[in-house]
Amino acid sequence: MALACMQLCLRCRSLLCTKTGLVTWHHYTQFWDSTTVIGVPTRIVNGPLSIRWNRTETQTRHRWKHQMLFHSALTAKHLSTEATEEKYTEELSKTSVVTYSSPLVPITNNVPVTQSQMTIDLDDAAELSALEKISDEEAANICVPAAIPPASTSLRDYVDKSETLSKLVQLGVSLWKLEQRPNVGSMLLRLDFDTDVAPKLLFLKEIGVEDSRLGYIITHNPFILTESLENLQTRVNYLKSKKFSYETVASMVSRAPYLLNFSVKRLDNRLGFYQQQLNISASNTRNIVARLPRLLCGSLEPVKENLKVCEIELGFKENEIQHIVIAVPKVLTTNKRKLTQIFDFLHNTMKVPHHLIAKFPQVLNTKYLRIRERHLFLKYLGKAQYDPTLPNYISLDSLASLPDDAFCTNLASATLEDFYLFQKTL
Ligand SMILES: *[C@@H]1O[C@H](CO)[C@@H](O)[C@H](O)[C@H]1NC(C)=O
Ligand SMILES: *[C@@H]1O[C@H](CO)[C@@H](O)[C@H](O)[C@H]1NC(C)=O
Ligand SMILES: *[C@@H]1O[C@H](CO)[C@@H](O)[C@H](O)[C@H]1NC(C)=O
Repeated sequence: MALACMQLCLRCRSLLCTKTGLVTWHHYTQFWDSTTVIGVPTRIVNGPLSIRWNRTETQTRHRWKHQMLFHSALTAKHLSTEATEEKYTEELSKTSVVTYSSPLVPITNNVPVTQSQMTIDLDDAAELSALEKISDEEAANICVPAAIPPASTSLRDYVDKSETLSKLVQLGVSLWKLEQRPNVGSMLLRLDFDTDVAPKLLFLKEIGVEDSRLGYIITHNPFILTESLENLQTRVNYLKSKKFSYETVASMVSRAPYLLNFSVKRLDNRLGFYQQQLNISASNTRNIVARLPRLLCGSLEPVKENLKVCEIELGFKENEIQHIVIAVPKVLTTNKRKLTQIFDFLHNTMKVPHHLIAKFPQVLNTKYLRIRERHLFLKYLGKAQYDPTLPNYISLDSLASLPDDAFCTNLASATLEDFYLFQKTL
């Protein structure tokens, strides 16, 4: 289906007849009370200051100006937040500028990671400003998007007008999700299907991504459409050089759409971090990253925090942490409070020692309430016995993983009805 679309390939730009004009207009309708929309900016030359209105009603102008101010305030707020974050990062950098170069395969160039690489926020992606300056030539091509419904606030209203958008929709891209993100709508409307979109889709298919995943990938990382093919290929080659198989790379990209957004330097740094921090082999590092590829995408701070929690707050030993993480990589990214809560219940209420929790680490990834109500039910029945050296031992594994009916029959020797009645008393 995707390929059939690509072969059609009409130029979206000429259909739209406007780039910046339409885009800017769309951008502001979000702030607009639709009943008061009177004018549409007809020409935008060098940004918003020279907007000319077809109908120059003061009220409308005033509103427009108001929207502009509102937007500026937002931008300013955004910028100042960024500044604060940078400062925070600088603080961190004093203690945490560490280079983790990945020893999976020796690399020659050992470049220290920069702070922006370490703490990047995935959702705070590149912003193509709808207000950016345009050339006179471009300005001359701008015309009023007369056929576009004036009260529109949704990208969906452009689908019929834009070849790129309609094809993305056919691919399964969720415009509804994309348009929640700042400037993504305008970025998409600037893209040409033939030159920007089709080659990226072909590339993804060539590296083994299934057609059915393309929509998901672009919905989550539309910026892949603006990245150069050369960069994308270099990153795939890097992963292959680290002995990730063709199938593994395809599966990682399919599940972590931001993976190919990151430079080789950063990917290498991430792999090195996990291998050195956990003190595990190259193949175990590959294994955990292949199963949870977003470990290579997100910030390392929460991971460091979770490792600290496991070691200092929960009191696991190095080899136990290694075992836990290799079995359940998700422990690295799980919510710290949930991790602590379930550990506390297992260890302090159920009296399960560390080494047994480490032996069945999946239990750390189970819902707290599920463990709690099952344990309390067993305790009520006098069957809460978790010591493998004593008779009638109940393993954490079966406690956590059995479905309700098997739990009742096999572990509690009770009926499902009894269990449900008991839950109501909690
Ligand atoms: C501006 O408004 C006039 C009538 O008020 C109309 O004839 C004309 O087509 C409009 N121009 C544009 C570019 O919308
Ligand atoms: C992803 O890549 C695009 C294109 O190079 C870039 O504009 C954007 O900032 C990147 N996003 C992140 C989160 O790195
Ligand atoms: C890493 O593990 C090895 C054993 O596999 C151990 O000898 C060494 O001390 C560990 N290194 C660190 C930094 O914990």
